[in-house]
Amino acid sequence: VRGKLGSAKTKQQLNSEKELVGRAAAGLVQPGMKLGLGSGSTSYHFIRFLGERVERENLRIEAVASSRDSEAVAREVGILLSEPRRGLRLDLAIDGADEIGPDLSLIKGGGGAHLREKVVVAAADYFLVIADSSKLVQQLGSFPVPLEVVPFALPWVMDRVEAIGAEPVLRLEQGGADRPCLTDQQNYLLDCRFGGIDDPAQVAVRLEKIPGIVAHGLFIGYARAALIAQDKEIMVLRSDGTLERFDTCDQLP
Ligand code: 5RP
Repeated sequence: VRGKLGSAKTKQQLNSEKELVGRAAAGLVQPGMKLGLGSGSTSYHFIRFLGERVERENLRIEAVASSRDSEAVAREVGILLSEPRRGLRLDLAIDGADEIGPDLSLIKGGGGAHLREKVVVAAADYFLVIADSSKLVQQLGSFPVPLEVVPFALPWVMDRVEAIGAEPVLRLEQGGADRPCLTDQQNYLLDCRFGGIDDPAQVAVRLEKIPGIVAHGLFIGYARAALIAQDKEIMVLRSDGTLERFDTCDQLP
């Protein structure tokens, strides 16, 4: 496990970090907020802790989930869910990431939910990333950039992605079946290995020009801050690259 924050960690240690930061994020939610709920294991902890607050404090909130999985967890813990609607702005979206660059550019979509995740964070006034310490990197690109692709366009998208220097691999269902993994929208996922990405914004623009790609996993300019757990502490990363111990929400830009 790489990352500026520290040495290799076990899955269990990383899971404790995810839990720690998920709990801290749930503590930031204020009564009456309209929220975007992320997807993945870190968001799962956040949603569960938020559900505890809903029950214990009778916290009144409204939330939009970014995947069917998150919707199911939120429903189970008693969070009131809404669908997107005209005029709805979210106060705060909280979601995980697969890689976090020093300027808060992100790779997301390890769980294949990045299309809805991007829709949700774009509808939010504030996007807060939550992550374990393995996610912070000096340069994006060790993690392959996921693309959600319309099945009809797949072969030509693969050609075009290869032409811009990536190695595309069709994501298959887990458990050895030879079937393509389908997103919540019934599209395919292509995991594109770029290696170190010098200019993520430029790669994002190139991907956006390829017909058939519904969404790519590069999130540039969306996140306002990231809370990153490191052992028993939480750090806050801001877009200017500053990283310090997180003690109070006044430290959030
Ligand atoms: C799902 C995502 C997740 O936020 C990302 O994969 C991080 O997941 P985890 O919290 O399990 O490490 O983008 O599409």
